[in-house]
Amino acid sequence: AEYETITAERRGAVTLVTLNRPKALNALSSKVLEDLIAAFAAFEADDTQRCAVVTGSGEKAFAAGADIKEMAEKPMADFYAEDMFSRWTSHFVKATRKPWIAAVNGFALGGGCELAMMADFVLAADNAKFGQPEITLGVVPGMGGTQRLTRAVGKAKAMELILTGRMMDAEEAERAGLVARVVPAADLLDEALKVAAKIAAMPPLATLAAKELVNAAFETTLDQGILLERREFHFLAGTEDKAEGMSAFIEKRAPEWKGR
Ligand code: HXC
Repeated sequence: AEYETITAERRGAVTLVTLNRPKALNALSSKVLEDLIAAFAAFEADDTQRCAVVTGSGEKAFAAGADIKEMAEKPMADFYAEDMFSRWTSHFVKATRKPWIAAVNGFALGGGCELAMMADFVLAADNAKFGQPEITLGVVPGMGGTQRLTRAVGKAKAMELILTGRMMDAEEAERAGLVARVVPAADLLDEALKVAAKIAAMPPLATLAAKELVNAAFETTLDQGILLERREFHFLAGTEDKAEGMSAFIEKRAPEWKGR
């Protein structure tokens, strides 16, 4: 499909989504949201697609935030009536069961940092910069930043970043636990596509279960989470892919997954 503010292409079993407003540092306008929702719905519905990568076009930014020019004149009643930003979580976290990776090049600020934190994990270029500068605009993060950043890096660093609006570089973000891995900027896209292809080659049902279970760690007590894990483990024991995976290991051959 053709989009106005992003591109989406299928590379084997991996969907590559690129935010494509480089002149505005890929600011997340309402049109970007509509385009991303459509691209994610297509990814989720397409059985040939198993993992997605989201990145930013241009050298400078993953995304420098929600579109300030669009929000500047918008009345408060519209923010409330639209329930502004609710659809980011509902579409890219709740409705997306397949895994997706944020490949962060350059600035990931405000909504850009929050979009990255909606991903299953973040791979960062060594030039990445993360921050929640909303306080400098007279507001606070509105797409999950106060909650997801705090869960990712802990209270001390989240509070400092959100109260001061300062940015942290890729190395600090990795140390703090926001980022899975840092790679040289020139290798970011190749590396992200490589990791995504590896995930895409894993057994489909176990992949969905693994993502669901790790996310459950943020929503349940330890006891409930461990019970849910055990039940999904039991459920996977009934799949054809479990029989195939274990036979392939014993027979020293590569497994062929069916997603059954
Ligand atoms: C709209 C943006 C933008 C944004 C950058 N641009 N960020 N447009 N929304 N979030 C535009 C600039 O206006 C400029 O357009 C062009 O992109 C290049 O940006 P510059 O500022 O000239 O680049 P530079 O000097 O390199 O500075 C980079 C930067 C800075 C440090 C990232 O752009 C910046 O601070 N951006 C805003 C970051 C931010 O506050 N994000 C949080 C947004 S609020 P022109 O036309 O002038 O060339 C949010 C949710 C809160 O995300 C919602 C509450 C209402």
